Amino acid sequence: MHSLLQTVFLLALVAMVLAAPAPASMKKRSFKVERVPNPKFKGRSPGAGTRALVKAYRKFLMPLPPGLADAMSAAQGATKIEGVAEKEQGKGKGHKPSSVAAATATASAGGASNDGTGVVTATPEQGDVEYLSPVTIGGQTINMDFDSGSSDLWVFNTELAAGSQAGHSNFNPETSTTFQLLQGASFEISYGDGSGAAGNVGTDTVNIGGATVTNQAVELATAVSSSFVQDTQSNGLVGLAFSKLNTIKPVQQKTFFDNAIATLPIPVFTADLRHAAVGAYEFGNIDSTKFNGSLSWTDVNATSGFWQFSSQQFAVGTGPTMNLAGGQAIADTGTTLMIADPSIVNAYYSQVQGAVNNETVGGVTFPCAAQLPDLAVDIGGNYMATVRGDDINFSPVDAAGTTCFGGLQAGTAGGLQIYGDIMFKSQFVAFNGGNNSIGMAPHQS
Ligand SMILES: *[C@@H]1O[C@H](CO)[C@@H](O)[C@H](O)[C@H]1NC(C)=O
Ligand SMILES: *[C@@H]1O[C@H](CO)[C@@H](O)[C@H](O)[C@H]1NC(C)=O
Ligand SMILES: *[C@@H]1O[C@H](CO)[C@@H](O)[C@H](O)[C@H]1NC(C)=O
Ligand SMILES: *[C@@H]1O[C@H](CO)[C@@H](O)[C@H](O)[C@H]1NC(C)=O
Repeated sequence: MHSLLQTVFLLALVAMVLAAPAPASMKKRSFKVERVPNPKFKGRSPGAGTRALVKAYRKFLMPLPPGLADAMSAAQGATKIEGVAEKEQGKGKGHKPSSVAAATATASAGGASNDGTGVVTATPEQGDVEYLSPVTIGGQTINMDFDSGSSDLWVFNTELAAGSQAGHSNFNPETSTTFQLLQGASFEISYGDGSGAAGNVGTDTVNIGGATVTNQAVELATAVSSSFVQDTQSNGLVGLAFSKLNTIKPVQQKTFFDNAIATLPIPVFTADLRHAAVGAYEFGNIDSTKFNGSLSWTDVNATSGFWQFSSQQFAVGTGPTMNLAGGQAIADTGTTLMIADPSIVNAYYSQVQGAVNNETVGGVTFPCAAQLPDLAVDIGGNYMATVRGDDINFSPVDAAGTTCFGGLQAGTAGGLQIYGDIMFKSQFVAFNGGNNSIGMAPHQS
């Protein structure tokens, strides 16, 4: 979005929030004024919302609105903007053309299942900033972040500078008997103009909860940006978008899911992410005890490499269904927030008393005690996914827990919308790589 447009939008949002009368269809809500810290958000650091929003903007190369850039510099411990934090090491290892990794998937001998399926826990980091799952690479088990919005499997490892390894679980290729360097191959993934990782590539046996791929491309970071270094809970990403987004050169490699798909009983992985509770990722099985009713399926458009679908309608609370002509969205487990079109965000927060576009933190905030309406968004014209209002209260921006940062924030007008973890907490989502579709149903509460 151009900065002029952005300014107009910000002013429009503020004006709307100040001026919007409560429509007749909306119930009047009582408003708590006690200034007690909300125990629900205990332990979340002020600034987490700003950081999550900045991360989403960067990942999808959206220009930062001016207020957000300032808020980020101001936020204590904010993600640094400088690029790769360290000198790349091990560069120049091997200049021969790489061979393609000949990956094969098998049922795990020692895993939890013997039918080729895999299931692992997905544990939220404090504040649901991200979800971490155990992945076994060459026999070494490491917690990683599963990301349906990218396609590289990269890991912290012993080739990184000691300072970057500190506090992390680092994969050691030298003690893996199955690791093989993929000669001449390298990767460089950038989540915008700042955070990212780069390094060498090998192949190894990767086991996710019993679903196993031998010769999976495993990317060994030799340089990672500071935000990854600081986040010692996560030791890398498992990309689960389409393989066409994989950054390995000179020969692109396949994702774990693409390699595993042929041997999975059904060509599906599912995300069951919970608010402040342990959920699961599952490969090759749909666990119908995890959702209510049946899944509604919709085709995805994989041209962009994302799990992308049209999203042309929305409704706030019990209000009328409204149109968003041409709206497109992706389902992204690796993004914390829900980034929607400004028109949805305007309509939504016009129903929240005290909601403001807060320049100090670079996004919409509201009193933590505000009652938030649910938001329903169209998934491919077949299904309206309801996102619980409670989950749109993301995190306090002040130590007292008085003002909260919204889990729903605005992206670029008319741009791609990113339905991240805020949406997943309300919906069970199945990703079908057999017919390129997505299935959703409300979580079993
Ligand atoms: C994709 O496959 C699933 C079964 O795995 C099926 O239920 C669904 O209808 C299919 N979706 C589309 C859009 O064809
Ligand atoms: C699929 O997405 C691509 C790019 O994201 C777009 O150009 C194309 O029109 C879309 N196709 C359909 C059928 O919507
Ligand atoms: C904006 O955010 C700050 C926290 O940085 C908070 O103290 C302030 O009350 C917020 N402003 C409004 C109008 O909510
Ligand atoms: C399942 O859905 C039905 C109908 O939408 C609803 O009445 C019921 O409360 C839901 N059950 C659970 C456990 O969420």
